[in-house]
Amino acid sequence: MSLSKDVSVEVFAADFAWGASTAAYQVEGAWDLDGRGPSIWDIFSHTKGRVFEDQNGDVACNSYRLWDEDLRCIQHLGLTHYRFSFSWSRLLPDGTTNYVNPKGVAYYNKVINDLTGKAITPMVTLNHFDLPQALEHRGGWKSPEIVDVFDSYARFCFKTFGDRVKFWITLNEPQIYAKLGYEDGLFAPGVKEKGSALYLVGHNMLRAHARVWHSYHAHFRHLQRGKVSIALNSDWAMPSDPGCPEDVAAAQRYMDFSLGWFACPVFCTGDYPESMRSRIEARNLELDFVDGQRLPKFSEDEPTVLGTADFFALNYYTSRKVKQASPRPGELSFAADQGAERTTDPSWPICGVSWLAVFPEGLRKLLSYIKETCNNPAIYITENGFAQMGPVELEDLDRCQFYRDTLQEVSKAIRDDGVNVKGYFAWSLLDNFEWTHGFSVRFGLFHVDFSRDERSRTVYRSGREYAAVVARHRGHTKFSKD
Ligand code: GAL
Repeated sequence: MSLSKDVSVEVFAADFAWGASTAAYQVEGAWDLDGRGPSIWDIFSHTKGRVFEDQNGDVACNSYRLWDEDLRCIQHLGLTHYRFSFSWSRLLPDGTTNYVNPKGVAYYNKVINDLTGKAITPMVTLNHFDLPQALEHRGGWKSPEIVDVFDSYARFCFKTFGDRVKFWITLNEPQIYAKLGYEDGLFAPGVKEKGSALYLVGHNMLRAHARVWHSYHAHFRHLQRGKVSIALNSDWAMPSDPGCPEDVAAAQRYMDFSLGWFACPVFCTGDYPESMRSRIEARNLELDFVDGQRLPKFSEDEPTVLGTADFFALNYYTSRKVKQASPRPGELSFAADQGAERTTDPSWPICGVSWLAVFPEGLRKLLSYIKETCNNPAIYITENGFAQMGPVELEDLDRCQFYRDTLQEVSKAIRDDGVNVKGYFAWSLLDNFEWTHGFSVRFGLFHVDFSRDERSRTVYRSGREYAAVVARHRGHTKFSKD
């Protein structure tokens, strides 16, 4: 049975965005070519022991050289939208506007012009994990200085590309960046300062995002008429035992400490979720921290964070069953603050990576949750996908089933739950450098042969079937207009 027969395409609006996503460090390669400065991921992946088999993104899919191939892949799928990120240090090698790299500007101009020339709408992420290393030397996201620097970079991008780019994502997954980069040390910059650095980093990311949204709003919106948001990731959390009040509360805390951490300030109250504040404040007393020292306070002297998103950009991958964790007295860590222990339902298949349990129904539930708790925003699902590990299967039937089920859940969210879902972006257009897993984990709609210089792209069956859904939807909307 093919995916195109199963998805109720008539539910999706005529202007529904059908997309796929990538990120600069994961696909571009050309890490030291044409004036690009190093990013924290270059340094991290060049350090022994950080990435599977010490692989790195030096070449990756070589999209810097092979953009024409990528464009062909995008066209092959019939996508209406393409989400990609700028390598900040390709445009501004030391992260600041003191020096602009003309070859970086030329590259992204070509990408954007090629897309718009084919009526494909670009969605650009300004920074997808790969902070310029020069800024890391100045304290990176821990330093309050980053807010001004990020704002200058963003304004430069709006000025240079904003006549053609109408969808901007400031930052990708601040929760993952802060937690994996500063608590677990698994992502660049590889810091393990448990229970403190991640909140500061998250705070500066929110401040920087808000500043950039206000800049766009004040100086560019009237001319460029685009939209700005921040891509937030979240699992869907359910209580292990729905009849147990402690588990119910723990599942809510899990949501508050993941989605709520960033969504609540931007969409709901302008501040962190109450449960985060109260838990962390209570633990501060126990751990001898001053109030506000770990989870910072938003200053009234800065423009508000509330309302700084023109749509909700959601990255969803997996769901969790959650129960109350046993207390960890004296332990300084995010897990101890959160007090929730996650498990995975044994009936959910694990795909590729151990953290990815497949549960498409979770996406529908999460969409409704966002509708209810975040004032019914327009939602673009900016990432969602299925991983393969081990021998390549071009006939990726499990992934086909996954997309079929997922798109059906999205259609139910729209039709039955009234969620305002405006678009869906598959992660990813291409197999690519999957962070600490290197090239061992494949998320692409196109297979990439990393063993050959050509990095040839071959469509997976899931890519063909996704293309069929897009084509059927386009056909349907054309038909219903006639
Ligand atoms: C997201 C991230 C992507 C991609 C994906 C799959 O967290 O934004 O870059 O790697 O996960 O793991």
